Amino acid sequence: MESRVGKAVIPAAGLGTRFLPVTRAVSKVMLPVFNIPTIEFAVTELKKSGINSVAIVVSSLNSDVQKYFEGTADVQVEFILQEKANGLGDAILQAEKWVNGESFCVVLPDDLIFGEITTIKQMISIHSKYDSTVLALKTVEDDRVPFLGIVESQQIDSLIHRINKCVEKPKLLEAPSNLAIIGRYVFTNDIFDYIKQTTEGALGEIQITDAINAQANEKSVYGYEFPGEHFDTGNPAGLLEASIALAVRDPEKAPGLINFIKSLNL
Ligand code: UTP
Repeated sequence: MESRVGKAVIPAAGLGTRFLPVTRAVSKVMLPVFNIPTIEFAVTELKKSGINSVAIVVSSLNSDVQKYFEGTADVQVEFILQEKANGLGDAILQAEKWVNGESFCVVLPDDLIFGEITTIKQMISIHSKYDSTVLALKTVEDDRVPFLGIVESQQIDSLIHRINKCVEKPKLLEAPSNLAIIGRYVFTNDIFDYIKQTTEGALGEIQITDAINAQANEKSVYGYEFPGEHFDTGNPAGLLEASIALAVRDPEKAPGLINFIKSLNL
């Protein structure tokens, strides 16, 4: 049976500690890639994928995010409060009532993906085919493995994997692969049950990776090794790299920026 996906959740209530001190006063998702806040890229990707109903999970400190979306007409944005930053799994759980029994997408603004066809659109069609949860996957360098959710999987088709298990932030020697979960998910609605069964991890947070692992133990879960270009804008260096990449491809901005970089005599 084909299941329709019409809603998306954007978790934005994290503390953004890697961006202190600016995140004392500005939400991480409002920090710009060149001049565009990262959350705008997430909403644009969803619009391009045919999703016009979006819930943003915010904390009481994120009034700038709410102000930014005031009066936007082309996409319906709801705000859902996460009272305490208890982890990504807990942030997603806050949207259970709003999602109202359907399958749904989750997009993390920290992960910026450029590509011809949006990654989430491709994932929605994989979800329709298998009626299962689908994760975005990317091969990462060894030094990134201990900071990410990593999967053990079998490739079953071009770019498609079946997930056997996933582990959050493994030590490199214990990691099952270098295939990391990147911030795009299409979840079947029962993920909420698995989140509720998940106990707090080492950092005292409810990790979505643990809930997905529990789901993969009992059901089929799939991964999509997306071909698009990925930037991790959740840390200052990654945000700068994304800004530079965007600017050097812009015919107006590129010449000045390239001249400036040359003038540094690196
Ligand atoms: P991260 O762990 O990367 O974001 O969460 P963070 O906690 O804000 O950043 P650091 O580690 O302190 O620098 C990934 C996504 O999940 C959201 C974040 O806003 C981000 O979009 N998140 C995380 C929540 O909404 N609530 C949480 O409790 C944790």
